[in-house]
Amino acid sequence: MKAAVLNEFGRPLDIQALPDPVLGTGEVIVDIVAAGVTSYAANVFNGSRAYLLETPVVPGAGGIGRVRATGPDATKLKAGQWVYCEPTIRARDDVFNPETILQGWTYRTPAALPLHQFYHHGSFAEQMLVPTENITPIGEIDAGEAGRWTAMGRLLVPYGGLLAGGLRAGEVLVVNGATGGFGGAGVAVALAMGAGRVVAAGRNAQTLEDLARIYGPRVRPARMTGDEAADRATIVEAAGTPIDMVLDFLPREAAAHQVMAAALAVRHGGRIILMGGLRGQSGALPFDYNWLMHNDVTVRGKWMYEREAIPRMIQMIRGGLIDLVQFEMAEFPLDDANAAIAHAAANAGPRQLTVLRPDR
Ligand SMILES: NC(=O)c1ccc[n+]([C@@H]2O[C@H](COP(=O)([O-])OP(=O)(O)OC[C@H]3O[C@@H](n4cnc5c(N)ncnc54)[C@H](OP(=O)(O)O)[C@@H]3O)[C@@H](O)[C@H]2O)c1
Repeated sequence: MKAAVLNEFGRPLDIQALPDPVLGTGEVIVDIVAAGVTSYAANVFNGSRAYLLETPVVPGAGGIGRVRATGPDATKLKAGQWVYCEPTIRARDDVFNPETILQGWTYRTPAALPLHQFYHHGSFAEQMLVPTENITPIGEIDAGEAGRWTAMGRLLVPYGGLLAGGLRAGEVLVVNGATGGFGGAGVAVALAMGAGRVVAAGRNAQTLEDLARIYGPRVRPARMTGDEAADRATIVEAAGTPIDMVLDFLPREAAAHQVMAAALAVRHGGRIILMGGLRGQSGALPFDYNWLMHNDVTVRGKWMYEREAIPRMIQMIRGGLIDLVQFEMAEFPLDDANAAIAHAAANAGPRQLTVLRPDR
């Protein structure tokens, strides 16, 4: 099969012929038709993100394709079905504390290395070997639509946080970092789940206006300036009513006070869900014990999403609650993988998708 291979950090991907994956029990081989390229892929491949990832590797976190072959234990999947390939693989040998990797992307902790070495290659290839439980049928689609369905990878992440926080219809949500890729998707998903109002907090006025225009009056833009108290006042004013939940998607470059500007705006009994990338000193958030306790506030972190979120997201898309046409899409054949990576970095807006098409 043809694949885009990261042979070494800091080098462009090589387009190479690799042996086809070999099917075992508990696995499915998928002909990849479309694979999303994240805006920060270049930083993963040049090593600056310091992801745990063994080279050589076919990168690519998940994708859309058609089942080529199933293992003998598959009960419903059939060759030819259109499917979503989920990159989050949880080890099967520890229910409470499973080692978890993102296939073709990172193994996060040294203990997860065996999982990464076995489910090594990702979706920037004509074929991919995936654990059976990571495959979900999406129903019939036209091959031309496959690229748009890669938006699942973007939408599912905030969906995981919104489910973890128990967002209910009518509730008021703040998305901190709403002008970014995952934050912007969080706005769309929260509206689909019935949020009464979504305060979109970010610094980029143009993107905030764009979000309000696209998603309508339930979205209230809140322009962040970096002054914590002033930013919190802006968020509270934009909400106009008590804030039930804050979903934070600020990146590793952000500072703790940017998180706190939104987090401390939550109401008595509210939920704060942390999904962004702060780390080190910036990630040491200054929550006051007494404030948390007296205000009955829940602070929760969430990485990715539970498996059940995947078919539910497909139902929301199929039901018209999320319209994939809202995404602007640029598609590249596998041979142009490096151009796709550069394009994704330069086009990182919340409604922009960069897609590799191994079928072309
Ligand atoms: N928990 C999970 O499961 C999960 C999954 C995937 C990704 N993530 C994490 O989510 C975070 C966001 O990812 P993304 O792809 O949405 O990133 P992104 O597209 O770069 O968006 C982040 C947004 O944060 C805002 N921002 C605020 N302060 C910033 C600063 N000091 N420097 C740079 N940007 C700043 C920017 O908007 P303004 O300029 O308008 O403020 C930017 O658009 C990343 O850290 C990523 O690792 C988490």
